[in-house]
Amino acid sequence: MTKSEHFPLSITFITGNQHKVKEARGIFEKFGLKLEHADLGYPEIQGDLADVARYGAKHVAERLNKPVIVEDAGIFIKALKWFPGTYSSYVQETLGNEGILKLMSNVEDRSAEFRSVIGYCTPKTEPEIFLGTVKGHIAPKEKGKYGFAYDPLFYPEGYDKTFGELKREEKNEFSHRRRSLEKFAEWYKGRMV
Ligand code: IMP
Repeated sequence: MTKSEHFPLSITFITGNQHKVKEARGIFEKFGLKLEHADLGYPEIQGDLADVARYGAKHVAERLNKPVIVEDAGIFIKALKWFPGTYSSYVQETLGNEGILKLMSNVEDRSAEFRSVIGYCTPKTEPEIFLGTVKGHIAPKEKGKYGFAYDPLFYPEGYDKTFGELKREEKNEFSHRRRSLEKFAEWYKGRMV
């Protein structure tokens, strides 16, 4: 296998979330990489974000017989013992942001962080993972119309706007996804040359 087969300019992102695809495309462009997208499901094993990303990437790389990335992300709230964490997707669908705000009523320490783990795998190699985090705190109420899911609840550290009040390009400057994708892209480009 040649280097360009191992490290093609275009990488397939496996996700059902269009918001993630748009965010990732903007970030990849900065690195001169192209993002293809496949909306495929894969088994999400019990474990932390890294376990899920590793297993998912390996599973899909073998199934599609090409290099892929997957992402597992979530919001981790300190006062809730880092809940919802790996359950973020389920909690968003069930409790929603209103439910999180109820759990947080009268809570003083509102520290939270978003984490994103990119899993990269090829059919011939073992998975690699890349973690990105952004610290911040939970807002007293939802604010903003941009982004998705927990974005209107999250004030990134040092900002007086929630992710929900930031346009995609602004969020992409320093989001958890920006950081995990950037780590991946730097590592990947280092191997292409
Ligand atoms: P997934 O399992 O990696 O798709 O992500 C888990 C859940 O975390 C998503 O369904 C969202 O509810 C939440 N999440 C992940 N990233 C973000 C983000 O950038 N903004 C808001 N919510 C997010």
